[in-house]
Amino acid sequence: MTTDRLIIRYIEETDYDDICEYGCDEETGQYMLHWPKTGDQVRDFIKCGMEAVQKDTITWHEFVIELKASGKVIGNISLMLNGPAAEIGWISNRQYWNNGYMTEAVKSVINHAFRNLGIQRIFATCALKNVASRRVMEKCNMKRIREERSFKAVRHGVEVVFDRLIYSIENNINNMGG
Ligand SMILES: CC(C)(COP(=O)(O)OP(=O)(O)OC[C@H]1O[C@@H](n2cnc3c(N)ncnc32)[C@H](O)[C@@H]1OP(=O)(O)O)[C@@H](O)C(=O)NCCC(=O)NCCS
Repeated sequence: MTTDRLIIRYIEETDYDDICEYGCDEETGQYMLHWPKTGDQVRDFIKCGMEAVQKDTITWHEFVIELKASGKVIGNISLMLNGPAAEIGWISNRQYWNNGYMTEAVKSVINHAFRNLGIQRIFATCALKNVASRRVMEKCNMKRIREERSFKAVRHGVEVVFDRLIYSIENNINNMGG
């Protein structure tokens, strides 16, 4: 997939250094359950992401966001399929935040999922405190459908409790705007 400024493609082994720049950064991963990762975990993640798209039935699409201008990989988007529904998640390099890159990339992945993958509904979750991620959801026409107070999860082996929001978007003609 391409947008004005971005190439969105499947993850590759050579993305390792760029992904480590943000994927191993504590501040970037502070609201995420499976990030930050160690360098070895990033390697495993890339390997599993690459294997996932070789399967006959793909249920995990791991995309990277590459800047057209420089070839630099500045973020990831995960799309996990579950029948006609999917969950989407994202992370990017903080040197590139607030330039509209993630919104541009997520819109493109949503359109791809609706047009080409037979997906009818896409969900996303985020911590209530994660204002930037909420903004991305809103700018991508996702609607807030639920708030879960004191949601319990395990983060790096430790139980954590936080308020979280669930957003979704349905596959209909009004949502296909670009
Ligand atoms: C969430 C994330 C991917 C956004 O990437 P990005 O490329 O900066 O996103 P965009 O530029 O498209 O949009 C960000 C929006 O959040 C807004 N924003 C960012 N920080 C904000 C803050 N503290 N308060 C209010 N708005 C904020 C920006 O102004 C922008 O909105 P605008 O276009 O209306 O001005 C990035 O911040 C990130 O990687 N965060 C860490 C990982 C993470 O939390 N992932 C999501 C887990 S659910």
